[in-house]
Amino acid sequence: MPAHADPYLAIDRQPDPEQYASFLEARGRTRSQTRLRRRFLRFCGIRPGWDVIEVGAGTGVLARDLARLVGRRGRVTGVDPSRVLITTALRLAREQGLDGRIAFRVGTGARLGFPANRFDCALAVTVLLHVHQPGAIVRELARVTRAGGVVGIQDQDLGSMVLDHPDQALTRRILDGAGARTVVNPWSGRALVGRLVEAGLTKVRLATDVFQDTTLTESTHSTLTRRAETAVRFGLVGARAATGWLAAIERLAAQGRFVFTINFYGAAGIKPAPSGGRSR
Ligand SMILES: C[S@@+](CC[C@H](N)C(=O)[O-])C[C@H]1O[C@@H](n2cnc3c(N)ncnc32)[C@H](O)[C@@H]1O
Repeated sequence: MPAHADPYLAIDRQPDPEQYASFLEARGRTRSQTRLRRRFLRFCGIRPGWDVIEVGAGTGVLARDLARLVGRRGRVTGVDPSRVLITTALRLAREQGLDGRIAFRVGTGARLGFPANRFDCALAVTVLLHVHQPGAIVRELARVTRAGGVVGIQDQDLGSMVLDHPDQALTRRILDGAGARTVVNPWSGRALVGRLVEAGLTKVRLATDVFQDTTLTESTHSTLTRRAETAVRFGLVGARAATGWLAAIERLAAQGRFVFTINFYGAAGIKPAPSGGRSR
């Protein structure tokens, strides 16, 4: 049986890393994801002129929104371990005329290499569910944030995936089974508040939001196909059952009755001033 393998742990070592760049961009363009992202940025209270770091920035979907939000006086730094994704992120920022406000660099979330208290805000969106030491990344986000600044994290929670399908038992076997084998922390969403509290953030708030797809978008199709392939690879279901499962999904979509939802949890907290100090 193959070992547990979350492709986001090492995108550049996947057989076709570009495929993940395309997936992230396609996902980012869907109406539901665009709305989720903007609501999360509003929830974090990011202001024009702020200096923001995004860890696990991927192809820069959120970083480009951030650059527009912080405006000409603001600054965005995107960090990601994947050279392929960072190369794509640089190209897209340049094409959209945002490269003057965004810098991207290759790096890992647990050791950012920036001085303490450097940023007004530090974010990680759909990253912590894919890493082995989410706590170390959250502590690093808190370290590089100034006192009074915001640390914001958002993740989906795979325990909340809902798909209308005629075979619910098979659906659970594929979605839960494959999710647990391809995502390091499938239940990350519900743990985010605890992570910020553990890292010493104060005034921690939670915003629950829902991604919904009723048309079987390209990115949902790709997610469900990968889940089915993983379930077959790990012997959870047979190849014929998986093919039939996907065909039923496509039929539902053709009939205009496709429903897929997943909860997204956003948590934000404020970095406290050191005892005896003052935040600006
Ligand atoms: C699902 S993608 C999310 C990308 C982007 N935040 C978005 O929402 O489009 C997860 C990202 O986390 C990155 N990643 C994986 N391990 C990481 C680590 N240890 N530190 C920082 N980022 C990491 C991956 O390279 C990938 O770009």
